[in-house]
Amino acid sequence: MSVDLSTSLGSLQLSSPTLTASGCAASGRELSQFGDLSTIGAVVTKSVMQNARSGRATPRMAETPSGMLNSIGLQGQGVETFIEKDLAWLNANGVTTVVSIAGSTTAEFAALAARLCDVPGIAALEVNISCPNVESRGQVFACDPYAAADVIRAVLGEWSSSAPVLAKLSPDVTDIVSIAHSVHEAGVDGVSMINTLLGMVIDVDRMKPLLGGRTGGLSGPAIRPVAVRAVYQVHAALPELPILGMGGIRTGHDALEFLAAGASAVSIGTVVFGDPRAPWRVAEELSNELSSRGYASVRDVIGLAHR
Ligand code: DHB
Repeated sequence: MSVDLSTSLGSLQLSSPTLTASGCAASGRELSQFGDLSTIGAVVTKSVMQNARSGRATPRMAETPSGMLNSIGLQGQGVETFIEKDLAWLNANGVTTVVSIAGSTTAEFAALAARLCDVPGIAALEVNISCPNVESRGQVFACDPYAAADVIRAVLGEWSSSAPVLAKLSPDVTDIVSIAHSVHEAGVDGVSMINTLLGMVIDVDRMKPLLGGRTGGLSGPAIRPVAVRAVYQVHAALPELPILGMGGIRTGHDALEFLAAGASAVSIGTVVFGDPRAPWRVAEELSNELSSRGYASVRDVIGLAHR
């Protein structure tokens, strides 16, 4: 049986439900040697900030049981170089592009939205209000419903494009549903969830935190049940709010869990470091998982676990 893999995130129509996850495929160029990027749902770019940043001290990565801990610190070349080089390359190659933005302040998020809204070739904006690798954990906008809504209102105030705006949520909160409610009321078109969980590894030979930045974001299969739970809770509370689901997805079977929990599409992250074909492979496996269960389309299973 042939399966219809098309789906949508608000007004954004996607030919495939698998996207890359922000930070795991840079701006797609390296990944393009492993497959045709125009055939995945979208490339979600590494979060871009206004100015160039060198990021946090090394080491920046540690392996953990069933996961990875990273502390990059939003290294990047800044928005002007991003537009000139990365976005231009993605557009020239026919890639559906979701641009992730990050800011140290609400004003920086607003300035990025103002700069990007007239730039052609942006299918959606993902607002990374949940980056864990900032100097002060108190600055994580997504951990506070008021700060999260402020950023979204500021972005939407500048965003004159018709492309949808997604808020990327953090799982490191007591009640992720209250954060989702808050950004929904602020007018967001959808949510991406989940970002990494804050973690730490200690090097007991040096008796110091292993990562240069001390703490880092935990990703990979270790966090998948947390992500599925979060997607399920937010879809139960706000069934009309589109969800881009992510967190430790390795197979089509994993992706199906997220769809059943309420995600309309999924991002493939950490697995890409070991298997760069994963965004294509997971879509193929998902097609088989659906067809073997008698489902004709992705849309048929979104939120099915809530019946
Ligand atoms: C970084 C940002 C994130 O949002 C994340 O989940 C992990 C790492 C970073 O750039 O350090």
